[in-house]
Amino acid sequence: MDSTPDDELLQLASQLRQQLVRHATRGAWAAPGSPTARAEHTAVAGPVAGPVEEPLAVPVEVYEERTVVPLGRRTLAQIRADLGDCQRCKLHATRRSIVFGVGAEDAPLMFVGEAPGEQEDRRGEPFVGPAGELLDKMIEAMGWSRQTVYIANTTKCRPPGNRNPQPDELEQCMPFLKAQVAAIAPRIIVALGRPAANQLLGTDAPISALRGAFHDRHGVKVMPTFHPAYLLREPDRKRDAWSDLKLVMAELDRLGIKPAR
Ligand code: URA
Repeated sequence: MDSTPDDELLQLASQLRQQLVRHATRGAWAAPGSPTARAEHTAVAGPVAGPVEEPLAVPVEVYEERTVVPLGRRTLAQIRADLGDCQRCKLHATRRSIVFGVGAEDAPLMFVGEAPGEQEDRRGEPFVGPAGELLDKMIEAMGWSRQTVYIANTTKCRPPGNRNPQPDELEQCMPFLKAQVAAIAPRIIVALGRPAANQLLGTDAPISALRGAFHDRHGVKVMPTFHPAYLLREPDRKRDAWSDLKLVMAELDRLGIKPAR
């Protein structure tokens, strides 16, 4: 017997529901078939063993278009408003400021550090102490400026005594950094030091094993390099950091992105 339009509609709805469930269980952020879902699929899935989904024939160029943004993307102003007078973790009790981030809302190049120090806490802006002065020089040597890149941290409040942020603090704060990354949609993120690189890449590898090569984070290239505070203590490593930054400059150039001050 021929199927009726109603039967076909039901069958289609059932297939769509199954596909949505498959995508949801893989952690995709968007509806299947959307540019976001396709980028997520390829970026996250990689060469995994197990049941094979139908291939999504998307040319690699799609990941290089700045159209790939998660559904539900918020602006930086909305994310700041969501954060409010944050009291989600114990750091709120000792902080002076929430250090949200600084720079251009559409920066193609982003820098992520660990957490604000004393001067950042006092001024409400990331990287304004001695490490920040060196970071400014590194950014300027690349042809950019603090106004044309975006700078943020894995944690927005200063841990007392400049200790490392703790797992419960990172758990509360990282979603806001991830939302900032989604809002800005940078082409390249420079992860400053092991904690930032580990948080962004979901690994606990040391910085020496990560630096010097690009890593993929949901379609965004991440270049881990030494933290400027480490470079102040170990100036001999500045040469290595500069070679990482030169790779970033070459990649931006390859993508047709000119430095801007
Ligand atoms: N170190 C960081 O990681 N971030 C800052 O904002 C300042 C120092």
